[in-house]
Amino acid sequence: MSTDQDSPVALVSGGAHGIGAGIAARLRRDGWRVVTADLRPGEAGTRHVLADVADEATVTGLLNGVAERERRLDALVCNAGIMVRRPLAELTLEAWRKVLDTNLTSAFLLARAAEPLLRASRGSIVTIASTRAHMSEPDTESYSASKGGLMALTHALAVSLGPAVRVNCVSPGWIDVSGEALRPEDHAQHPAGRVGRVEDIAGLVAWLVGPEAGFVTGGEFIADGGMTRKMIYAE
Ligand SMILES: NC(=O)c1ccc[n+]([C@@H]2O[C@H](COP(=O)([O-])OP(=O)(O)OC[C@H]3O[C@@H](n4cnc5c(N)ncnc54)[C@H](O)[C@@H]3O)[C@@H](O)[C@H]2O)c1
Repeated sequence: MSTDQDSPVALVSGGAHGIGAGIAARLRRDGWRVVTADLRPGEAGTRHVLADVADEATVTGLLNGVAERERRLDALVCNAGIMVRRPLAELTLEAWRKVLDTNLTSAFLLARAAEPLLRASRGSIVTIASTRAHMSEPDTESYSASKGGLMALTHALAVSLGPAVRVNCVSPGWIDVSGEALRPEDHAQHPAGRVGRVEDIAGLVAWLVGPEAGFVTGGEFIADGGMTRKMIYAE
C-alpha cells in the first residue's frame, strides 16, 4: 500500500471479490490509496474494513475511519451487490428488502456519509448498476428494481452534488467473476465476441474517477459486449 499522503484515496464497497476487487487492484496500480469495505476478508494492498454497507451505523463508522486515517476521499465506488432469483410468489418481503438494502440503500448511505470528504476534494462517485436495470430474465424483480433505482439515484446525486462532485453509473453485462468454465457459445453470443472480465469494468471506472472525465456526470456507461444492443427473435 502506498503511504504517500498526497495520493488520492478511493473507497470501494464490495471490494474483496469480483468486480470490486478488480477495481481496487486497478486503482492501486494507478497510484490511488484504496480502502475496501466488504462482508468478507479483503486482499493485501488495501486497507480493508469488514463492514456491512447496508447498515447505517456501520457506514457512518466507515467514513469516520477514512476521515481519521486517510484524511481525504477522492472517489467512492458503490459496488457491493447481491442477486436473488426467486419466482415472485416465493419472493419474501425479507428477501426483497435485503436486496434493496444491499444494492440501493447502501449507495445512499455511502454517498451521504462521504459527501463532506468528496466535496472537499472535488471528487467523484461511481455506482455499479447492471444492464438488468433495462432488461430482465424471469424471477429477478428485486435485483432489477434495485439496479434501476441505483441508476436513478446516480443522476439525482449528480444534480444535487454538482459541480463539486461528479456522479456516474457503470452498468456491466455478463462479467466472469467465478472463474467457471465458459462455453464457446457464451462468448460468441456477444457482439464483442466474449464474456466480460473485471478489467473491462475496472478500466472504465478508472477513467470515470480520473481527470479526463471532468465533463462527465449523471451518465450511465454500459459495458456489456453489446448485448443490450442485440435484437433477438426466435428462429
Ligand atoms: N458479475 C456480473 O456479471 C455483474 C453484472 C452486472 C452487475 N454486477 C454488479 O457488480 C457488482 C459486483 O458484482 P460481482 O459480480 O463482482 O459480485 P461478487 O459476489 O463477486 O462480489 C460482490 C462483493 O460484495 C460483497 N457484499 C455483498 N453484500 C455486502 C454488504 N452488505 N456489505 C459489504 N459488502 C457486501 C460480497 O461479499 C462480495 O465480496 C454488484 O453490484 C453486481 O450487482 C455484476
